[in-house]
Amino acid sequence: MLATGGTIAGSSSNPASSAKYQAATVPVTALLDAVPALGAVARIEAEQLAQVDSKDMSFALWSRLVERVAFWSAQPDVSGIVITHGTDTLEETAMLLHLACVGTVPVVLTAAMRPSTSLSADGPLNLLDAVRVAADAGATAKGVLLVINQEIHAGRDVMKAHTSAVNAFVSPVSGPIGFVQDNLVRFVRTPSRLPAKAWPVPGAWPQVEIVASYAEPGRIVVDALAQAGVSGLVVAAAGNGSVHQSLVEALTDAAGAGVAVVRSSRTGAGHVAIPAPPRPAAGVFVSAGDLNPYKARVLLALALAAEPGLAKDPAALQALFTEN
Ligand code: SIN
Repeated sequence: MLATGGTIAGSSSNPASSAKYQAATVPVTALLDAVPALGAVARIEAEQLAQVDSKDMSFALWSRLVERVAFWSAQPDVSGIVITHGTDTLEETAMLLHLACVGTVPVVLTAAMRPSTSLSADGPLNLLDAVRVAADAGATAKGVLLVINQEIHAGRDVMKAHTSAVNAFVSPVSGPIGFVQDNLVRFVRTPSRLPAKAWPVPGAWPQVEIVASYAEPGRIVVDALAQAGVSGLVVAAAGNGSVHQSLVEALTDAAGAGVAVVRSSRTGAGHVAIPAPPRPAAGVFVSAGDLNPYKARVLLALALAAEPGLAKDPAALQALFTEN
């Protein structure tokens, strides 16, 4: 078990409030001690990798996480790996691990919406269910998973879609891939995509930022980012990937200057159409498919780190977004 912090490790002096608390305070040993039933499921070795509120997630911690997953996956007596994480940016870490940790040993993220000291804390059951899934033979070669609220989600597909509800996580296009009910771990489908090869985690990450399309966006942000030398931009476009005309112009100029531009959607669900021939409302930019802007940013950054020339090869970049 690799612990990184989050609300699952949060505590509060007021158990009746699930909003007023300090995230990332309770050590992983205490989280494990709070769930004696774990002893009947697995023998657990725990590492406190970090103690952070996931809003402050860093590339350094991502690198460390990938390194520790690789280490533990290679141990012959390890059946599965569970990672505790904050919910706020979990979908980004899940995307990174989906791309960077390709193997057969189950890698299962879990989290909680309520701190460990709150009334009806959801962390203990999520932790137990995550271990149940990581120890289950059915989880083998299913890629990186999130177990939360008795559901199993593919790491690539899952996103946080509610500020406070315990059922905050959804896989908006395809739904959960399975369920956990006490000792019953049931997979109902395989993940939509598993990468053919593990993407290397860069030592120095290329700068990739997110811009949004909305009424009268102006081009000042895109121009400033291009001038600052960003390597890539993900557009949180409207609807099915439509971009305001003023942004299309600015992004076209940025692309001409060597910035990789990818269109995602701000809607929260669905595929962004690949325009063929290019629609004026979309520009000619690469489609992120069904990846939301935050997930698309992770893939774009890894892709540009591995192959900086991709910015000038939209067809190759599009193929990566179609495959991963
Ligand atoms: C965090 O993301 O670390 C805090 C919020 C949460 O885990 O729900």
